Amino acid sequence: MKTNTTQAISTDHILRCVHCGIVQATADRMFRCHKCSELLEVVYPEWEHSDREFGLRLREIWRERRGSTLPEDASGVWRFRELLPHVESQHVVTMAEGNTPLIHLTSAARTTGVTRLLVKHQGLNPTGSFKDTGISMAISMARAEGFEFVCCASTGNTSASVAAYAARAGMKSIVLLPAAQVASGKLAQAIEYGAHVLQLNTDFDGCLKVLHEVVRNFPAYLLNSLNPYRLEGQKTVAFEIMEQLDWRVPDHVIVPGGNLANGSALGKGFQELHSLGLIAKLPRISIIQAAGANPLVRTMREKAGKELVRVSAETRATAIRIGNPASWRKAVNVLESTGGQVEDVTENEIADAKSELGAEGVGCEPASAATLAGLKKLVRANFVKSDETVVLVLTGHMLKDVDYMLASGVKRVIGPMAADAATVISTLERIHGQR
Ligand code: F0G
Repeated sequence: MKTNTTQAISTDHILRCVHCGIVQATADRMFRCHKCSELLEVVYPEWEHSDREFGLRLREIWRERRGSTLPEDASGVWRFRELLPHVESQHVVTMAEGNTPLIHLTSAARTTGVTRLLVKHQGLNPTGSFKDTGISMAISMARAEGFEFVCCASTGNTSASVAAYAARAGMKSIVLLPAAQVASGKLAQAIEYGAHVLQLNTDFDGCLKVLHEVVRNFPAYLLNSLNPYRLEGQKTVAFEIMEQLDWRVPDHVIVPGGNLANGSALGKGFQELHSLGLIAKLPRISIIQAAGANPLVRTMREKAGKELVRVSAETRATAIRIGNPASWRKAVNVLESTGGQVEDVTENEIADAKSELGAEGVGCEPASAATLAGLKKLVRANFVKSDETVVLVLTGHMLKDVDYMLASGVKRVIGPMAADAATVISTLERIHGQR
């Protein structure tokens, strides 16, 4: 069991405070700035001296690795290791995460009027959510540091991912969940992967607060997205999108927002490609929240992004039921530097968007469908134009939250009926009006 409170980090990167800008070489177990207690981000000083050739060579190296059988090359995270903190091979915990498809939507393209509309389906990761890319990175840091325990607070997906990757790494995982507020698929995953599952009588924000205290007094490595290494893994989605679009930058990328790390990571990924000369412009990155859990929307509208407006969160999209988001400053930076928008969408808008995606064979969980609902609003506001290329990031697999679907879709099931072909055929003919 590791008990020291300071983590050594490798020398290829440093940590910089997103608020006061102070640079530090090490982080304590809370991953907060030593001076002002804000969040830290990973920066790579060596890149400042890299020439344009470096960027172009990277594209070649990454492409070649796709044909390799090495576990790190087969990963959609570690394949991009030139742009990640260095971790010795023997500590890397990977399950070929990333590598998710970019799918053209046809029906939603028609209804929104946006003809080049694609989804990057991060729900097709090993544990069914985008979390796997970040957890692969951060848990590898934990393993390199010699930790035995890893921990997180979660609305469900992080806990599933942490539990799975800890099991792969031979580590023990502790997950704090808001009691009765986690979709059953996610809870079942954490149990199956052998986590210590602790349900607390509070919401996600309350769980995270308790976890802070726990980590101060118990030698577990924090895997929430306060941990800046999580974002390093998650930023690779930007690299994959660019490869899949043959390096043609989309006009818009839209993500759902909860604790606001994912939008931040996506922005960081694109910004790094831009500063290395791999892309000539940035996409506008927009973040969509549920109307009942919209602290970023209110922060931008009421405080111009200067001060967080906390809310008491309520939404059936339980993944993003968060009122006090940790990464709000990072998200504000991404909105401002890419010229993106923040929007909120109602429960009905989320449900409709989810059904619409489902009806064209693209399943996702409610939080992910918020992106399509948000796109519709952004089109109506003329922020997104019909001739622009738009990528929606779908963050979670549809089977994570089966209860949500059954609650609304059960009426579409016909029967029970007699178990004979004549009854089935006459029912089908009645439905299709062939008689
Ligand atoms: N979509 C899904 C499916 C999620 O699980 C989450 C967050 C988000 C979107 C929002 O991402 O927090 O980076 O803005 N889930 C976390 C969890 C909070 O514990 O699984 P974010």
